[in-house]
Amino acid sequence: MTDHLNHVTHPLVQHKLTLMRRKETSTAVFRQLLREISMLLAYEVTRGLPLTTERIETPVCGMDAPVLDGKKLALVSILRAGNGLLDGILELIPSARVGFVGLYRDEETLKPVEYYFKVPTELQDRLVIAVDPMLATGNSSVAAIDKLKQAGAKNIRFLCLLAAPEGIARMKEAHPDVPIVTAAVDEKLNDHGYIVPGLGDAGDRMFGTK
Ligand code: URA
Repeated sequence: MTDHLNHVTHPLVQHKLTLMRRKETSTAVFRQLLREISMLLAYEVTRGLPLTTERIETPVCGMDAPVLDGKKLALVSILRAGNGLLDGILELIPSARVGFVGLYRDEETLKPVEYYFKVPTELQDRLVIAVDPMLATGNSSVAAIDKLKQAGAKNIRFLCLLAAPEGIARMKEAHPDVPIVTAAVDEKLNDHGYIVPGLGDAGDRMFGTK
């Protein structure tokens, strides 16, 4: 994956995203759609993974058949909303290793503060896919990727549902080597840091906390 921004325009992704954006969509339906769209996005974010071949026997003859090469990839959820993307991706890549990064914003300094960090071993040898549905200001995503790099990650991709131009620019400046895969690039952020038109608070919508 070489482009910094990969906008997934597949019609199924776009249709499901519209259903998720609608304010009438219930928590149960939102969750189901999130699961489905995560699988479709997982397909895109894993594009170009290295393959090798393995000798197998089909009922007809032997062949050198393609299989994924290298260490199991690592999915890293940026808490809490990132967890909503995990289920669907794990359905498609059941052997992936999983990590978590928890950050909150200090109300005085406005800087992200880490409260949880647990990631798979040998991060330097894995493709690391960091997931967070909303790339808004980019502050927490940039901080999470800083931490992943400090832990040794060298090959990182970032997967989200919606991205604001501000967040994309911030990521490009801080981590130009980390491609972003997103289902949509929205118009802007509002004064509260919400993506416009967006879908509201992704965590609240998937966990039913509002
Ligand atoms: N986080 C959300 O959940 N929604 C936004 O619009 C921005 C950040």
